[in-house]
Amino acid sequence: MRTQVIKPRIREILSKELPPELVSLLPKRWVKIGDVLLLPLRPELEPYKHRIAQVYAEVIGAKTVLRKGHIHGETRKPDYELLYGNDTVTVHVENGIKYKLDVAKIMFSPANVKERVRMANIARPDELVVDMFAGIGHLSLPIAVHCKAKVIAIEKDPYTFKFLVENIHLNKVQDRMTAYNMDNRDFPGENIADRILMGYVVKTHDFIPKALEIAKDEAIIHYHNTVPEKLMPEEPFETFKKIAREHGYDVEKLNELRIKRYAPGVWHVVLDLRVYKV
Ligand SMILES: C[S@@+](CC[C@H](N)C(=O)[O-])C[C@H]1O[C@@H](n2cnc3c(N)ncnc32)[C@H](O)[C@@H]1O
Repeated sequence: MRTQVIKPRIREILSKELPPELVSLLPKRWVKIGDVLLLPLRPELEPYKHRIAQVYAEVIGAKTVLRKGHIHGETRKPDYELLYGNDTVTVHVENGIKYKLDVAKIMFSPANVKERVRMANIARPDELVVDMFAGIGHLSLPIAVHCKAKVIAIEKDPYTFKFLVENIHLNKVQDRMTAYNMDNRDFPGENIADRILMGYVVKTHDFIPKALEIAKDEAIIHYHNTVPEKLMPEEPFETFKKIAREHGYDVEKLNELRIKRYAPGVWHVVLDLRVYKV
């Protein structure tokens, strides 16, 4: 998965085919998810993009190359251009976990790796953990696999859900991890969770009342959101606290981590919060 530095062999092959001023613009870093390569390509390289992708694929050993784009909308779908190959479904292995996904259609951020790894020893085996934005099990598979806790994973997008279910079987945690294909606001469980994952951005605060409904009278919530740097460190904690108090809960902030820069001046952060009914 980690980003790399250009291999001499790539430069050697392409310097025979590209004008010299373009060789220096070849991507020096890329992301490999399973055997699919995400390549950032400068607009100047447009006329050579398919050949460049082919050479990177052959030298690095990838079956498919996508041009890196952006992640959009409510279901966080990436917007990538297919440059080489055609199969974008792959199995990425990270921290002993198999993540099967369609890289062209489902986000898998290298910048979130620390958080995925952190989740691997966050819970006790006797906990019930509810992942409200499960994706393919990005954050909750580590909990089911390594912590051996019980997990309920909720994912509303049917295509992403298909991979979530496959991943539960691939990782052999079907005895303790159950997936629901629904909007988490329709999830019927109340007062059941010891721990809740809210791995979502931009509008996560809209889901705080539902999280509190799912939470036991005392629970831990891993609350992700995006926040302008100038509002930190008060936010996003103050907003969470205000909404929680309106719903009869008090909150203690146990920890706060910056996950990645989301946009200029905006951070994706995660807060570990202990909520308890007052
Ligand atoms: C950005 S992905 C994050 C996956 C994982 N939680 C992580 O942090 O790496 C968010 C996922 O939440 C799903 N989602 C968005 N709104 C939802 C909702 N109201 N109920 C259930 N799933 C939702 C999206 O389809 C997407 O797969």
